[in-house]
Amino acid sequence: MTPLLLLHVFFVSVCAVSEVDDVKSREHLFLNSLGLSGKPKPGGGRRRVPSTLWRMFRRTEDGQAADGDPCTVSEYGVRGNIIRYVQDQGRLVSGWSSDCLSCLEKQLFFNMSVLQPVEQLSLAQLELKFQWKVSSSAEFLLGPQALSVSLYKVTRVTLRGANREVNRRLLLSQSVQLRPEPASLVLDLTSLAENWRKPGHNFGLILELLPHNIDPEELLPFRPGNSLPLEPAITLPEIQASLVAVSLNPHQCRSRRRRSAVHLPVTPSNVCKPRRLYIDFKDVGWQDWIIAPQGYMANYCHGECPFPLSESLNGTNHAILQTLVHSLDPHGTPQPCCVPIRLSPISMLYYDNNDNVVLRHYQDMVVDECGCR
Ligand SMILES: *[C@@H]1O[C@H](CO)[C@@H](O)[C@H](O)[C@H]1NC(C)=O
Ligand SMILES: *[C@@H]1O[C@H](CO)[C@@H](O)[C@H](O)[C@H]1NC(C)=O
Repeated sequence: MTPLLLLHVFFVSVCAVSEVDDVKSREHLFLNSLGLSGKPKPGGGRRRVPSTLWRMFRRTEDGQAADGDPCTVSEYGVRGNIIRYVQDQGRLVSGWSSDCLSCLEKQLFFNMSVLQPVEQLSLAQLELKFQWKVSSSAEFLLGPQALSVSLYKVTRVTLRGANREVNRRLLLSQSVQLRPEPASLVLDLTSLAENWRKPGHNFGLILELLPHNIDPEELLPFRPGNSLPLEPAITLPEIQASLVAVSLNPHQCRSRRRRSAVHLPVTPSNVCKPRRLYIDFKDVGWQDWIIAPQGYMANYCHGECPFPLSESLNGTNHAILQTLVHSLDPHGTPQPCCVPIRLSPISMLYYDNNDNVVLRHYQDMVVDECGCR
């Protein structure tokens, strides 16, 4: 089947009369129903999919989540059907801040307008990881062993920047050990992130890092270009910041269980029934934004709804009457349509336009049963 025909089968219900030219606008409608304003065009800098997201995706794919509420994210214990790893877009303000000579200062900015207005934010959790990059064992021994971390919310931006104390509020102040593992910090920012969704309310965060030795007496002023001969050249710590945002689109949350793999019989027959259809996302040109799955068994409904309509065709009373009238006047009244009457969800991992990694549960993606309507 050509990609165009495949799209045609995918987007067009069997009874609907439509031109194949319409594929682009149907694709658009379909993407809209997935909560996307268009086909995402992620940039070049692909992010690694966080292992937590892979784990959650595999769990739903295996159907292990089938018994639970499809709109609860059990990993975080909150309601939701969309999990985003929102990328930090802040920049390194200055190698070493003017307010604190031995500090490293970094802006954090998470663009919350990737959430649609209809979505209810249930959780926004900041995840920070720090790793000290050392190139030799001498640096490992001599470099700082801990970091004092201060996190500020920026309340106002003035021409002179957000450095001034009046324009920021301290959210967190903590010391983390840098070795042997990378250090990490997790902070609940749900109410702040909710506020960031309002236009003109997101001034981001400021992260201030002060490297020091474990012994507080030895609070070391590490400076770049330090002239002391014994001190190694200090490389900057690698900072990874993500905001995990769990939200709920209530329109995509009708509670319905996923059936464990429906196996459709392969019998030649003209009667209305589900037919096998594997949608390969490569064939519809979606491979550059969908991470997983690469495709799935979507199926479709096709076949006749003949008179007399048997019970197995799951017809409504109306459909039964329509087949009767059709048998009397085949040209005046069409047969009822063979349409999906039971569908099940799938989960998808994809990149959005801002290169965020998103895991989303979509209802009604797989045809399980058909009926005459
Ligand atoms: C945030 O994302 C939205 C939607 O993707 C975009 O229109 C907007 O320009 C972004 N804002 C910033 C400050 O990057
Ligand atoms: C009609 O529904 C029954 C179960 O309710 C199902 O077994 C059968 O396959 C359905 N018929 C079609 C044509 O899908």
